[in-house]
Amino acid sequence: MLINGHTKQLAIIGKPVEHSFSPQMHNFFSEITKNNYSYSAWETDSIEDAIKGIRAMNIRGVNVTAPYKKDVIQYLDDVDDTALLLGSVNTVVNSNGRLKGYNTDAEGFYRSLINAGINITGKNILVIGAGGAAQPAVMRFVQAKPKSITVVNRTKSKADKMRCDIFEKLGFDINTEFDAFANYDVVINTTSAGMTSSILPTVEIDGIDNLDFINSECAAADMIYNPPETLFLQTARKKGAKTINGLGMLIYQGIIAYELFTETNLPDDIYERVKEYLIKEKILR
Ligand code: ATR
Repeated sequence: MLINGHTKQLAIIGKPVEHSFSPQMHNFFSEITKNNYSYSAWETDSIEDAIKGIRAMNIRGVNVTAPYKKDVIQYLDDVDDTALLLGSVNTVVNSNGRLKGYNTDAEGFYRSLINAGINITGKNILVIGAGGAAQPAVMRFVQAKPKSITVVNRTKSKADKMRCDIFEKLGFDINTEFDAFANYDVVINTTSAGMTSSILPTVEIDGIDNLDFINSECAAADMIYNPPETLFLQTARKKGAKTINGLGMLIYQGIIAYELFTETNLPDDIYERVKEYLIKEKILR
């Protein structure tokens, strides 16, 4: 890709950022579309200064990662409704000096499920975890009209708070108690349990003794992609469930962000193409 005087700048900002594969992914998108954009990774200690820099240098857009997804909001001119409700922005687009924030995580996760043939509409959904990753996902599921959504969490009060603060306002009732007889069709781990050690996210949750409620009729999804198969997914797979990890979410949130940055549509087969590229280049396992 030839960088010239017309190249528009994009980046991921956060701390740390060096392990992100967003630069390789977004630059691949520009490579195949021939869009004249360049995407970098910028580590920052001050999100306020970083946003000032984006304005000063007329940077076209950034992805925002931890620990700034919430703090960044106060420095933007506009925030779309979903991101505002979530209190979390992962994509900022600069249109003629006006900075607007979006959250593409929820849509990214939803599209990754659909791409894997896992439907939410009319299904009983069990979400494990009630942290920052759970909320966007559950919000997107609500729009898809599931039969029921249950959110269970190690600290139950957090799931109850999420039900009251977000979902009651949306007019959708979520359950926060596990029901062993509920026939959950899709079970999703949104917690970080399993990322660094082989533990099940359910071990400390009241009422869940094991994963025997998962069977070959179920689908299980984990937002974690490294390791590629957590103990949760491995257990679900051994019970015959269809399983997917968090890689699809990561790729799809990037696809959606890129389309916002460039106001272009990526080709229909982009997911498979970028995944193949990242594996071939050993960026992904
Ligand atoms: P964030 O909101 O930034 O995503 P968080 O509030 O720490 O981070 O949320 C992480 C989620 O993972 C929470 O649901 C957390 O459960 P608690 O609310 O009880 O802390 C969950 N989590 C993290 N480690 C876990 C573990 N070992 N077992 C079960 N749940 C765990």
